Amino acid sequence: MTNLKIQAIGVPLDRIDGPKKVTGAATYAAEYHIDGMAYAFPVQSAIARGRITAIETEAARALPGVIAVVTHENAPRLASLSDARHVVLQSDAVAYYGQFVAVVVAETPEVARQAASLVTVRYEEQPHDVTLRFVRDDLIRPEVVNAGYATDTSSGDVETALAEAAVTLDATYTTPTYHNNPMEPHATIAAWDDGGVILYDANQGAQRIRDDVARVFGLPPERVRVISPYVGGAFGSKAFTHPHVVLATLAARVAGRPVKLALTRQQMFAVVGYRTPTIQRIRLGADGKGHLTAIAHHVVEQTAMIYEFAEQTAVATRMMYAAPNHQTSHRLARLDMPVPTIMRAPGEAPGMFALESAMDEMAIVCGLDPIEFRIRNEPATDPETGRPFSSRGVVACLREGAERFGWQPRDPTPGVRTDGEWLVGSGVALSTYPARRRPSSARVRLSPDGRYTVSLCASDMGTGAWTILTQIAADALEVPVERVRLEIGDSALPTAPIAGGSMGTTSWGEAIVVAARRLRATLHEKHGGVIPAEGIEVTGEADANPEAQQFSTHAFGAQFAEARVHRETGEVRVPRLLGVFGVGRVMNAKTARSQLIGGMTMGLSMALHEESVLDPRFGDFANHDFAGYHIATNADVGAVEAYWIDEDDPHLNAMGAKGIGEVGIVGTAAAIANAVYHATGIRVRDLPITLDKLLR
Ligand code: MOS
Repeated sequence: MTNLKIQAIGVPLDRIDGPKKVTGAATYAAEYHIDGMAYAFPVQSAIARGRITAIETEAARALPGVIAVVTHENAPRLASLSDARHVVLQSDAVAYYGQFVAVVVAETPEVARQAASLVTVRYEEQPHDVTLRFVRDDLIRPEVVNAGYATDTSSGDVETALAEAAVTLDATYTTPTYHNNPMEPHATIAAWDDGGVILYDANQGAQRIRDDVARVFGLPPERVRVISPYVGGAFGSKAFTHPHVVLATLAARVAGRPVKLALTRQQMFAVVGYRTPTIQRIRLGADGKGHLTAIAHHVVEQTAMIYEFAEQTAVATRMMYAAPNHQTSHRLARLDMPVPTIMRAPGEAPGMFALESAMDEMAIVCGLDPIEFRIRNEPATDPETGRPFSSRGVVACLREGAERFGWQPRDPTPGVRTDGEWLVGSGVALSTYPARRRPSSARVRLSPDGRYTVSLCASDMGTGAWTILTQIAADALEVPVERVRLEIGDSALPTAPIAGGSMGTTSWGEAIVVAARRLRATLHEKHGGVIPAEGIEVTGEADANPEAQQFSTHAFGAQFAEARVHRETGEVRVPRLLGVFGVGRVMNAKTARSQLIGGMTMGLSMALHEESVLDPRFGDFANHDFAGYHIATNADVGAVEAYWIDEDDPHLNAMGAKGIGEVGIVGTAAAIANAVYHATGIRVRDLPITLDKLLR
């Protein structure tokens, strides 16, 4: 790894895309207008499992302005059915409530929506199973869990260690279904032309959408172009290709017109993914001095009938704490439900709620301060792989956080601090998220006027990528940011991975650095430092991190929460959240802070508010809009402070960045649950922490 001359990196530069966004000049997918465009509105299944016996479309077709009604009976055949997530209108089978069963195309969105309501679908309903339970005789063992991690791990002898431990804990924690709910609903405009198709689409990676659409429609990838310069949030829900993208593309082909399909918030609850509910059993054993001797984490979660998605819930438990005996496992229930997907810190967010709640419980049993208990169990090397950590800021984050938060002196006795009618408590929990990168490429062009254009298919879903990639390019080129222009969000640009897994900055940034160095070398070695009349253009490719095999690479953090619980009503308030993170070098102090406090706020939302409520009679979510699905609002959020330690990690990438999109949500819910326990003496192991759980 080589060092950059750091000048622009780290500066709290305002968002380059900010003025366009606040003036409405940034065009989002649903805002493009194409001449001759028609509008699609889907029809969704009203059963969770069964077959369609008839679809009556006459009334819809008779409505003036209707162009087409497409069902499985008249839809063109797709070229590839290999990924069931992308298959729409190809058979009469229904695999989950809300699955697309028809789509209406009309001259206006209003007519399309009204016509969709006139389509009558008749079903032969079959019994469905939509309820996750810890004990089932049909749980499956996935081959691997998400991101390619091992399903189960084991070292030492957990059962013997637990039997011999001085102190043990055996507790089960549950997290509900969550929906990603980005501010911008998913939307796709599809326009066919000359045997190819252009999509304006809201996503986290235009090339993944391109490749999936190309495969599904039997097109060479170069005949599909996906344009997505501005994306209004995603949290994982726009990482994979969801069926509405295929539906829009199919509808446009049938209609012979460009077609816009903008999902409603309600529709999103069935078709663009959700975070699986989890049931997690944690067992811990410790000796008389508070050293862990055994850690076991067993997870039961769900997947769909049509596709296997296995959240990596217990993965963080493998590397958080030292103990000679370790065991983790994941099992899946296949249910008649929509396909789960990744949601901000898939795995770590629910898994660390359980582990960090359990660590708090265990610290109490051991009679130790929860900070001291964690420090006592810090591993010297990665407990799973034995590799050294490239850097591990846990202790520094805990110490600095304790200082800033005012942790000491803390009386551990629960339920004794009051402020009027409120019981007051504090809690702490750790955060973690892997620090990785994927292969990427980037192109840099130097124009005769001395300006640089940096191009790659990166994606900015609101994270700040437009800004920080410009900063990285400026430092790699050793020029001021004003001389760099960025092009992203278009599948026609050089190949780059999606914005996901907190790997955008690390992957794209590395490629930009490689390309920039190549350009500077070309300029100096071939042209003696003088820009030729035609300019210079080079492309650089960067691989995944070669040092990933030698080091254990993760971001860490420590989060502190103050909770207040009303003595009479059980109402919970969190006036203060404070996090200190070890995230490598920070690329932009302003956008980084936004990412971290955004993650923490989402963690608060996870702790207290969010829950998709399943109606098992139908297999759908009862609270499928913002009236019923409660996301933390301004009034729910008090002070949220995020800090980071100075961390120089030379083993990751040229920038020394770790990725910060996801670590902020990890641990927050546990810190709050731990604070609620400290306030009340009531341990809530079942999220969200609603007032009914605190009334005795
Ligand atoms: Mo993030 S859930 O990996 O998009």
